[in-house]
Amino acid sequence: MLLCPPFSSAQTLRAVAARAGLLVGTCVTPEHFNEPQYANTLAREFNMVEPENAMKWRATEPARGEFDFTAGDRIVTFAEAHGMKVRGHNLLWDKYNPGWLATGHFTSPQLAEIMHNHIRTVVQHYAGRVFAWDVVNESFDAHGNIKSTLWYDQPGIGFAGQKTRYIEQAFRWAHEADPKALLFYNDFDVEAVNAKSDAMYAMVRDFRRHGVPIDGVGLQMHLSNLDPSALSSLAANIARFAGLGLQVHITEMDVALPVDHNGQLLHPEDLHRQAQIYRKVAAVCAAQPACTAFQTWGFTDRYSWIPRFTHGAKGQALVFDKNYQPKPADRALLQGLARVTPKVAGERKQECRCGK
Ligand code: XIL
Repeated sequence: MLLCPPFSSAQTLRAVAARAGLLVGTCVTPEHFNEPQYANTLAREFNMVEPENAMKWRATEPARGEFDFTAGDRIVTFAEAHGMKVRGHNLLWDKYNPGWLATGHFTSPQLAEIMHNHIRTVVQHYAGRVFAWDVVNESFDAHGNIKSTLWYDQPGIGFAGQKTRYIEQAFRWAHEADPKALLFYNDFDVEAVNAKSDAMYAMVRDFRRHGVPIDGVGLQMHLSNLDPSALSSLAANIARFAGLGLQVHITEMDVALPVDHNGQLLHPEDLHRQAQIYRKVAAVCAAQPACTAFQTWGFTDRYSWIPRFTHGAKGQALVFDKNYQPKPADRALLQGLARVTPKVAGERKQECRCGK
């Protein structure tokens, strides 16, 4: 058994992460900044934030050519006041787009112009203040094929049938707009080595060979379970992206638990299962130098997308409860980030038994 660092209740995620050379972040919604417990917990625990929705297309370009940076700017201002980095999310997706874009029936040349203008305007607005962008979000299906979308072939920006070419174009335009920003491709179900992450790997390797400006990949990590093989597969997956010289960010981790119609846990012992999942994933990230940021999709169960997304079947997915009290997952995450479990292979033997 490992000796466990003496974590006091005063120990914060951001202090531990900083010591391990990691960024620890959460998505945020600026409407809640006026709530003292929200703002205090956020500033105390995290050194990175990402807008949950405020920098998505529907928010930033609600009418064609008319940009609104109000909500995004509030996040950047909050972050700067509290010494936090801002991770931008996202420039291109087939979801969360405004009606004018989604149902606009534009031609390919028009769409190319719309996309270029959007990427240029948003990235330039935040140049020097947003250190990294999810340039393109969720382009592959479960089999590793490029999804049929507005940007690809409906009708696409002129590269229909040319697979990752439109993604490459988005990265080039983002890089032109802010050559210093780190540029990421972000997706879900790409945590393990599987058909989808193989496709992502092939794309990124091709980009690296051809000088396409990409710096990293984001693994979303929306989980409800985690078996041991998934954990070693995650480690191998991170290692192969690191082998391409890329950074890996865990971008949207949550661990959704089964709940009843009042949002109460069906199995209270799940809190401990959840804690172990957070700890193990964080430890895998912390063990590899290429994994430079660990982020959760929200931090308080008061505000999480999971109950809505699962139609009430799941909830309590984050590390602080509805009243901003730390759950077992919070201390476990802290242990994971502190590299308490340095090797995945020996994970059982080295189980840390201190704390909760
Ligand atoms: C979700 C937000 O949490 C919701 O509030 C919104 O209604 C839809 O988007 N993958 C992503 C995130 O990349 O942007 C999504 O966020 C969750 C899944």
